[in-house]
Amino acid sequence: MWRILRGPRARAGADIVINVALTPASIQPAPVAVVIDVLRASSTITEALAAGYRRIRCCRTIEQAEALREPGRVIAGERACIKPPGFELGNSPAAFRRLRGQEVVLTTTNGCPAMFAAAAVCDRVLVGSLLNLEAILAELDGAGDVVLVCAGTDGAPAIEDTYLAGRISATLGGARSDSARIAEAVAAAHPRPSTALRAGRGAAALLAAGLAADIDWCAQESVLDVVPQLSALDGDVALVDESAPTSRSRQEPDLVLLSPGTAAG
Ligand code: MLT
Repeated sequence: MWRILRGPRARAGADIVINVALTPASIQPAPVAVVIDVLRASSTITEALAAGYRRIRCCRTIEQAEALREPGRVIAGERACIKPPGFELGNSPAAFRRLRGQEVVLTTTNGCPAMFAAAAVCDRVLVGSLLNLEAILAELDGAGDVVLVCAGTDGAPAIEDTYLAGRISATLGGARSDSARIAEAVAAAHPRPSTALRAGRGAAALLAAGLAADIDWCAQESVLDVVPQLSALDGDVALVDESAPTSRSRQEPDLVLLSPGTAAG
């Protein structure tokens, strides 16, 4: 289930601090943030960049998204899990595998706002999902203190986001805040990603909307070697591109993916 990779760096993590914001409202400043919205915004952003879209323009409102309409831009997003009228796509990650333009304009309920919350207090903002877990871990290796920002659901913590934050925290090692340890406990309680993804309100809303397939899609682990990064804030729009492929894709990752309950270091 969890692939074990061994290497020296696990010990290097000992001198970093890992914090988790269980909701964007509790975010604390850090050099690096990873915004996590497993169901589904982070998964969609990762899938779209992996498919070849050059940029994702994240915005807060439907009106802003509409105002960004231009040839070559795909207008996408959701409200209450549903594609808004007039949009080309909703927020189902699989739908972004086929290129329909050069850029995506995206507005979602929790994931996009979490990007702005992170950008307000962190120097570097990455986007994490299960789809790119290994790539995110390699990118964080040696990157310093990090805050894992869970988008949550309507201002409340979400099990699936907390689960992924716990997986990352447990693997990175280093000094962990209590919220990071809470996230690790949630990760340890779920032997498989799918059980965590199906346990919360987010999944219930997707099931009610007939989008069960999206849950299984988002539960795939480390299938995309892409790290989305917030490259700029253009007014009230967050521009997300693929982080310049660091040496990670050329070098065998050497972090330890720990099984539940095993402390790092
Ligand atoms: C969000 O950003 O709120 C989620 O991605 C919502 C969804 O995908 O339905």
